[in-house]
Amino acid sequence: MTPMIVHTREELKSAIAHANPKSLGFVPTMGALHEGHERLFDKARAENELVVISIFVNELQFNDAQDYANYPRDLDTDLVMATRAGVDIVFAPPAEEIYHAGKPLIQLHSGILGEMYEGASRPGHFDGMLAVVAKLLHLADPRQGEYRAYFGQKDAQQLALIRRMVADLDYPVELCSVPIVRSARGLALSSRNALLNAEQLEAALVLHRAIELIASRAARHEPLNIDDALGLFQMEPSVELDYFVVVDPNTLQELAFICQDTPFTGEALILVAAKVGGVRLIDNQPI
Ligand code: PAF
Repeated sequence: MTPMIVHTREELKSAIAHANPKSLGFVPTMGALHEGHERLFDKARAENELVVISIFVNELQFNDAQDYANYPRDLDTDLVMATRAGVDIVFAPPAEEIYHAGKPLIQLHSGILGEMYEGASRPGHFDGMLAVVAKLLHLADPRQGEYRAYFGQKDAQQLALIRRMVADLDYPVELCSVPIVRSARGLALSSRNALLNAEQLEAALVLHRAIELIASRAARHEPLNIDDALGLFQMEPSVELDYFVVVDPNTLQELAFICQDTPFTGEALILVAAKVGGVRLIDNQPI
């Protein structure tokens, strides 16, 4: 069945109240839906009576106007996927509906966790992301029954920050995450992949090759020697590496001491970001 499409906060509130669900699964998105989103919808569908998604390209989390302008938008195609996944309600608000009081005066600050990695390259990105997620979690809140929100593990730093916000501000929502979905050749699915041509898609595979190299060493408890991963990037001049680091999965602090000669034990997370043809790609893998 085609989902109900609502554009205003009032419409969303009354659609949820009318459904009066025992459990609600909410998946916030910026549209340009792909298989990675579909996994989130499927999990939400399997675990809840009512599934609500939002499609909203949040200008506040873009620190580059061109990136915001170029972000892929195609509501009709998104609705095909939402229908296929059995979504009940699609909330697709215009910007003035979300920021009805103007640009937020009272702001959330993502702290040191938001200043590293993606935050260092995209100042303000995580504050802007938290601004909209904080609002959307309120707007989709069923006020009674179970309430779950779903996020992809691909945006590991985003997920860590949302977990922290939900804990710090006591949001009455259970956060659920879904592993990265990859193309047959290993590229992490992302809405931004649509901006790459065939040659750039090929070059982008180096992110996964580098991750695999280090992850396989970790699995064998060998020294990680991440310089070898950095070397793979040097062989792909069209790929501009931003960072390739091994971090603590909770604090995201870099574990530089295990990255070279020491045999690997314990748990960590590989994080990588690079630009291909001006398009920023991120990937990660728990080890
Ligand atoms: O991951 C995304 O698509 C966005 O950052 C989110 C969580 C929908 C907030 O705009």
